[in-house]
Parts: sequence; structure tokens; C-alpha cells
Amino acid sequence: MAVRSALINVMIGAVRKAARALIRDFGEVQHLQVSKKGPADFVSAADRHAEDILYNELRKVRPAYGLLMEERGVVEGTDTSNRWLIDPLDGTTNFLHGLPHFAISVALERDGNLIAGVVYEPIHDEMFWAEKGGGAYLNDRRIRVSARRQMDESIFATGIPLKGKSDHGVFLRQLGAVMSVSAGVRRFGAAALDLAYVAAGRYDGFWESGLHPWDVGAGIVLIREAGGYVTGIGGGRDPQLGSDILAANDHLHRDLLSIVGTATDDGA
Ligand code: IPD
Repeated sequence: MAVRSALINVMIGAVRKAARALIRDFGEVQHLQVSKKGPADFVSAADRHAEDILYNELRKVRPAYGLLMEERGVVEGTDTSNRWLIDPLDGTTNFLHGLPHFAISVALERDGNLIAGVVYEPIHDEMFWAEKGGGAYLNDRRIRVSARRQMDESIFATGIPLKGKSDHGVFLRQLGAVMSVSAGVRRFGAAALDLAYVAAGRYDGFWESGLHPWDVGAGIVLIREAGGYVTGIGGGRDPQLGSDILAANDHLHRDLLSIVGTATDDGA
């Protein structure tokens, strides 16, 4: 049986409350797909509303902690050791299009180290949570990264850079390299959930560039606690504050790093 600490309970409580609002809004957004104005403004409001709930709930129980939030940005706390990293709606584009694959992601950073993470996918009521040293869980079940050792048996997730990003050529080289040696590449559209799925052994690995600390903070804790490896795409760099990330199970991390890294450097 999973034993949740007071910290994890606080995080899960805040996330569940924000998720109730998101679910209500998701029901609404599905009707707006066919409206003339489109649902974009509505989704921004839903995103901000969920963030307000997380802000209020976490401030109530840990008033001194700082926050780094996707919408509000940096909110300094009087306690400079502790900082929440918050993405109130990861998978915004999915949500906007009525695709039921999105999540809330909350991590706690203490003295620069990630110590706890929660990623909640409300459609299937899947709560992924982990605390440093305590293992990783999906609801009440302990999770581990997959045990696959062969690239050609493994599935990898990634994120595709969209319009306006400068690295399309690099991404196509990375994709070409991974797809030619693996059992498949997936792009589901929510990086925090991609990382949680690696922690749960559903994907064997994940890589993406152009991310932010709030997208990856909780997922990094989950993967480490589930026995996986996380670095930047270039290797050693701590991915926590970097914008690119590469994660995999303990057997495949080195292979994936080498394949994606070589493809990245090929055009340089
Ligand atoms: C996005 C999603 C997506 C990833 C983008 C992120 P958001 O986060 O995680 O999968 O490819 O790079 O920005 O904007 O929906 O919170």
C-alpha cells in the first residue's frame, strides 16, 4: 500500500481541486469546436482559472514558498529554498481541440533539487506521484520504468516543434534516426504525461526540445524514482532548468542519447 507524505497529500489535494474545474471546462470546450469564434479564449481562461486554484491552494498551506507558473511566471516567496513549478494545463492544444489527453503538473524544488512531483491526468483519473527516495506511484500502485533492452522492441515519445520554432530540420533528423531503429515513435501532445508514461513503463523513452521547467519538473522526479534516467539531449547537463530533455529506462538511455545526440550534431 502506498503511503503518502503530508507534502504529497498537499500537492494531490491542490491538483484534484484544479482538475475539477478543468474537467468542467473541458465538457464546455467540446461544444465550442463548431462555434464561429472558436474556443481559444475560453481555453486561456480555463488555463488561468486552474492556475489560480493551484496558486491559492498551495499558498494557503505553504505561504512562504515561491512559485514558477506557466501563466503568472515567477512569484517570489520569503522562503527562498522552496519553489513550486506549476503547469496548470499541459497539453493545451489537445484541450483546445477537444482531445482528451492533458494533465496538471506540479513539482517542488528545494535548494535547486527536485524533490517531489505530481502529474494528474483527470480523464482516466490517473494520479502519478513521486517523492525523492520514496519511489514512484500511479494512484496506489508502485510503478517502474520498462525493462526493455532492445531499441527495435521499444516505443519512444517525443514533441514536434510547431510553426515559429527554428529547429524543424534538427527534429526531422532526430525523428529519422529514432524511427529507423525502434518499434515506433508517438506524439501525444503533453510532455508532462509523456514523462509520466515513461515512469510507468508505457513508453521506453522520450525526448523533446523547447520545454520549460514547469513542463518537466514533476516528470523528472517520477522517472528518477521509477528507476529511469533523465538528462539533456546533449548528455550530462541537468535537464531540470534546461530546455531539452531525454529520458529512458536504465538499459536504453545510453542508446537513445547517442542516436538523438548524433542526429542533433549532424547538421552542426
Ligand atoms: C506543451 C506540451 C506539448 C509540448 C510543448 C509544450 P503546454 O505544453 O507539453 O506536448 O510539445 O512543447 O509547450 O503548452 O500544453 O503546457
